[in-house]
Amino acid sequence: DGDVYKYYADGQWKVSSSGKSVPIINPSTRITQFKVQACTQEEVNRVIESAKTAQKAWAKTPIWKRAELLHKAAAILKEHKTPIAECLVKEIAKPAKDALSEVVRSGDLVSYCAEEGVRILGEGKFLVSDSFPGNDRTKYCLTSKIPLGVVLAIPPFNYPVNLAVSKIGPALIAGNSLVLKPPTQGAVAALHMVHCFHLADFPKGLISCVTGKGSEIGDFLTMHPAVNCISFTGGDTGIAISKKAGMIPLQMELGGKDACIVLEDADLDLAAASIVKGGFSYSGQRCTAVKVVLVMESVADTLVKKVNDKVAKLTVGLPENDCDITPVVTESSANFIEGLVIDAKQKGATFCQEYKRDGNLIWPLLLDNVRPDMRIAWEEPFGPVVPVIRITSVEEGINHCNASNFGLQGCVFTRDINKAIMISDAMETGTVQINSAPARGPDHFPFQGLKDSGIGSQGITNSINMMTKIKSTVINLP
Ligand code: G3H
Repeated sequence: DGDVYKYYADGQWKVSSSGKSVPIINPSTRITQFKVQACTQEEVNRVIESAKTAQKAWAKTPIWKRAELLHKAAAILKEHKTPIAECLVKEIAKPAKDALSEVVRSGDLVSYCAEEGVRILGEGKFLVSDSFPGNDRTKYCLTSKIPLGVVLAIPPFNYPVNLAVSKIGPALIAGNSLVLKPPTQGAVAALHMVHCFHLADFPKGLISCVTGKGSEIGDFLTMHPAVNCISFTGGDTGIAISKKAGMIPLQMELGGKDACIVLEDADLDLAAASIVKGGFSYSGQRCTAVKVVLVMESVADTLVKKVNDKVAKLTVGLPENDCDITPVVTESSANFIEGLVIDAKQKGATFCQEYKRDGNLIWPLLLDNVRPDMRIAWEEPFGPVVPVIRITSVEEGINHCNASNFGLQGCVFTRDINKAIMISDAMETGTVQINSAPARGPDHFPFQGLKDSGIGSQGITNSINMMTKIKSTVINLP
């Protein structure tokens, strides 16, 4: 069926023997935009088998040659930014400009992986034995970093290209092979991105991309005995994966309930601008979005007014028109967001704007006077709805942040750097931003979540290290 995008295996584009496809619904039109192959477990088996074989040769390919190919893929990716961004617009309703910058950022990320990889993989350690009690200098230990084998990458719908290459780049430079299972929404953008690696001429089987239903191939992939590492970004499926996976390194970035604490001495214009950018960009569908504002009562009225003034200026509509607020990814996501809004209404939150929805499009909404008994105080909407909780002490803010199951990022607005550092130390999150909204980038910064927000640390350097293992050779002298 010519209308169904092929999957990528053994350096070739293939039609699945299942004869089935998975539809990708355009979030704006709510009709099928694309179809991808529904791969079978047998096809997954073959892909992993080729990945295993290709990896053996790739591990022996000089690091500088691996880097050259990655630079080539990065350049091709950037050259093809327009068609890839167009897929992101149609598949995940990402505003046109953001879709373009996702692809450019991805090219830069792949190049950075190549550069960082040649440096950190070019170094090992030399140790001598007589540091440890009872030893003479009779043993020399040489260490180097070796690849893990087959890396399985599972990125989420909100960055189908960028959060795929943030796994592909580190895996490949470190000498691993890679199997990509893209999210359904975003699969076609991911296949186009993989095509750029194909054009760069990587060895056959080294990279592959299998599409299909999670229910059919999800567990099969994550529990496959030949997979040596899983890098996953997404929701609480990650928790289920971590329980079922074998004894292999896992890298997980799951949800977040990023708190924004605003103190009395904060620059309220800066705080308001950051809350709007942090809470509403890509309609709040980022794990690092501002998901709860904890503001000191004495400045709350002023802050809320400033935020509302900016919310009023947000454009609402289609991603093709580069509107700020665009339809959320699926109807069920919109229904979930609506459930949180209704719950807040019933429990007495102040609606700063009227709640408005048309299909998957939800107008931006700030909810003031949110209390801890409301679901929105704890759950992540992954939509354009930001709750404000008024606090009377900094401790109250920190306690709310730390009572969450999540611990991805947080931010604090104050002009007092000492207070900011103390609050950062007290917040149980992987990162705290001082005077700016939470964000993952720049992409070489460490990125990690505590508690249910993840396992391990990402960022280019950390990911390369995570996708390698230390190998020692000990020379024993007579
Ligand atoms: O959705 C999760 C992403 O890792 C967030 O990335 O902060 O660049 O939007 P971002």
